[in-house]
Amino acid sequence: MLSIKNPLFIKRTLCSSLHLQPIRRVSIKTTIISDKDAEKSNDVEFITHPLFPHPVFDQKDCESIEVTHREPRTIGDKIAHNGILFFRSSFDLVTGYKKPHTPEQLAHGFKGTRYEMTAGKWLTRCIFLESVAGVPGMVAAFLRHLHSIRLLKRDKAWIETLLDEAYNERMHLLTFMKIGKPSWFTRFIIYVGQGVFCNIFFLVYLMNPRYCHRFVGYLEEEAVETYTHMIHDLDANKFPELNKLNVPEIAIQYWPKLTKESTMRDLILRIRADESKHREVNHTLANLDQKSDRNPFALQVETDKPQPENGLKVTRPEGWERSDIVLSNEK
Ligand SMILES: [Fe+2]
Ligand SMILES: [Fe+2]
Repeated sequence: MLSIKNPLFIKRTLCSSLHLQPIRRVSIKTTIISDKDAEKSNDVEFITHPLFPHPVFDQKDCESIEVTHREPRTIGDKIAHNGILFFRSSFDLVTGYKKPHTPEQLAHGFKGTRYEMTAGKWLTRCIFLESVAGVPGMVAAFLRHLHSIRLLKRDKAWIETLLDEAYNERMHLLTFMKIGKPSWFTRFIIYVGQGVFCNIFFLVYLMNPRYCHRFVGYLEEEAVETYTHMIHDLDANKFPELNKLNVPEIAIQYWPKLTKESTMRDLILRIRADESKHREVNHTLANLDQKSDRNPFALQVETDKPQPENGLKVTRPEGWERSDIVLSNEK
């Protein structure tokens, strides 16, 4: 009951007498968009052919993606890895997420604590992660593009893979935006966060691109781990409201093999596979000579040795060593 001593009563009275809207509650939870509402905001007519068509991933290959870690070997690697651990633990603390370290923690899911996950919290996490992940590829491609046209030099095919990565991350984000509606506070954090992260990444890439690719490699290791946890929770049917959802049309048009009958699990499996590819690409790019080596994922040569490729058939999750890659025309 509202009484004059009740703070809610005072707030409402003040707001109505001053003709103000009550201040909206600070929340980071994302609201799931029901299939009925999704139809209302159906903008399928605006979906164009993908600028970078997605390679075909088999369901079996997507299922077999594993959480991996490349041990830091240089001081730069250690700084990159510790940087990611710092950002991740700060983000986890603020958003109420805890990485499960034991099978019990994975099964129990920190029930009853502030670390218990909900469907809304998962979506917030995915949306924030993807909004950050879309920055490095675009910034790196932008800088390499300027470098190429300023110095009148070939780029050796790095730009296209970096742009493809940025495009792929934005497709992840656009897909999640069709599933959940983030709160104003989440949008605000994303807005400010991008301003800070984008500028820092730009400056550091100018000075040390190798360090930046290693940093992204470690970021992607964390992304694979997060999506693996999410797939576990979907399998355990912890959030039936997510398992019931239809896969958005934008995702069906982008990922080969996704159909109207596909589930959220099928979608997250493919997003995790994409992250595993970014992990491999960025750890590999960090192993190469930043100025003179070609990008072996885009510009391939004929050889009998296994070499990097864009699919999931031949992979090195910790990155290809420079000595394993045929970088010139010798066989
Ligand atoms: Fe992503
Ligand atoms: Fe990624």
